Amino acid sequence: MLRVENLAKAFHDESRSGRVFAVDHIDLQVDEGEFFTLLGPSGCGKTTTLRCIAGLESPDAGEIVVDDRVMYSGTRKVAVPANDRNLGMVFQSYAIWPHMNVFDNVAFPLRVGKRRRTSKAEVTERVERALAVVELDQLAGRFATKLSGGQQQRLALARALVIEPALLLLDEPLSNLDAKLRESLRFELKRLQREQGITTVYVTHDQSEALSMSNKVAVMHDGKVSQVGDPFEIYLHPANAFVADFVGTTNFIEGVVEHRDGEAWRVRTPDGHVMVGKVVDTEPGDRCMVSIRPEHIEVSPGAGIGLNTFAGEIRTRLFTGEAMMYQVQLGSAQLSCRTPAALRYPSGTPVSVHLPTRHAIALPWTQDRAMAAAS
Ligand SMILES: Nc1ncnc2c1ncn2[C@@H]1O[C@H](COP(=O)(O)OP(=O)(O)OP(=O)(O)O)[C@@H](O)[C@H]1O
Ligand SMILES: [Mg+2]
Repeated sequence: MLRVENLAKAFHDESRSGRVFAVDHIDLQVDEGEFFTLLGPSGCGKTTTLRCIAGLESPDAGEIVVDDRVMYSGTRKVAVPANDRNLGMVFQSYAIWPHMNVFDNVAFPLRVGKRRRTSKAEVTERVERALAVVELDQLAGRFATKLSGGQQQRLALARALVIEPALLLLDEPLSNLDAKLRESLRFELKRLQREQGITTVYVTHDQSEALSMSNKVAVMHDGKVSQVGDPFEIYLHPANAFVADFVGTTNFIEGVVEHRDGEAWRVRTPDGHVMVGKVVDTEPGDRCMVSIRPEHIEVSPGAGIGLNTFAGEIRTRLFTGEAMMYQVQLGSAQLSCRTPAALRYPSGTPVSVHLPTRHAIALPWTQDRAMAAAS
């Protein structure tokens, strides 16, 4: 449905003396009916990518094809104007017209440009249908400014849907809303997208939003695509330290790969611990970081021994209601561990820490972690 190839867009950046790629030669493929999310930290190029797809930004190179129609091609010198692309858009700061009522806001796209010739009866029918989809049909006559934040957001969505777009582009459409409303609109948006079967490209920097709503997620970092996969792949099989760190929380234990046998590896840490697990892009002799998520670490009392089981000590604990978070000292490393709330070990308790091999992933060593990028 959407194919983006080798897309590049640079901006002039005085502080870095020269042109900087906001979108650095990326490839994306979105299938029909898919909910596809661009996820990444602020400034990684999500909005610029979406604006290039929409035709609001003119790329420096690449190709954009929607439903077999070439919208942009650097080599073939094609650039279809934005209003001829038949795409529905809702932006980070959604613009609704305060001087119009709900009905007229939604009708607006049908009354301008080449859709101006839409008959009055058809405008009414299509606006009513779009308003029904977002459940605003009861408020058609109300002024847009007299709507709640969530209702305004649904209005912006109805206005994008009314043109029956080939592709729906949503740039952080929930970012202006409070946490509760954001959550309920997540469900609503997901239901709506599924019912309408509309191919959607969604932009967010919120990893839980991305994981909960998407069929597929592309994690972006510094203008590049770091990994593409379904939410489970992204979370359970991160391709690099950046993705492991940005999507969810994880622990990193530094070490050196000693031995590799296909997918399996053996790593030795500076503390002399030997760990085994899965390997991604590392070879014997390489410096690496073993990624293990807090909820995958098994903590039990005493000094257990066995494969991937090490002696540690509880440093601090934090009760969060549904779980207990522990900081466990393991040699020179501190690990965050998440256990059921019923397990209550006071600090100083000697514990054994088990890292299940299927969740311990040796990734190439890098300084380029999400936490570092965010600070
Ligand atoms: N018109 C512009 N002129 C110069 N630089 C720009 C312009 N638009 C974007 N940039 C730069 O390009 C990079 C990517 O910006 P973009 O808006 O795509 O990021 P984003 O991922 O959407 O971030 P956010 O999550 O904060 O919205 C940033 O470094 C930004 O400063
Ligand atoms: Mg943005």
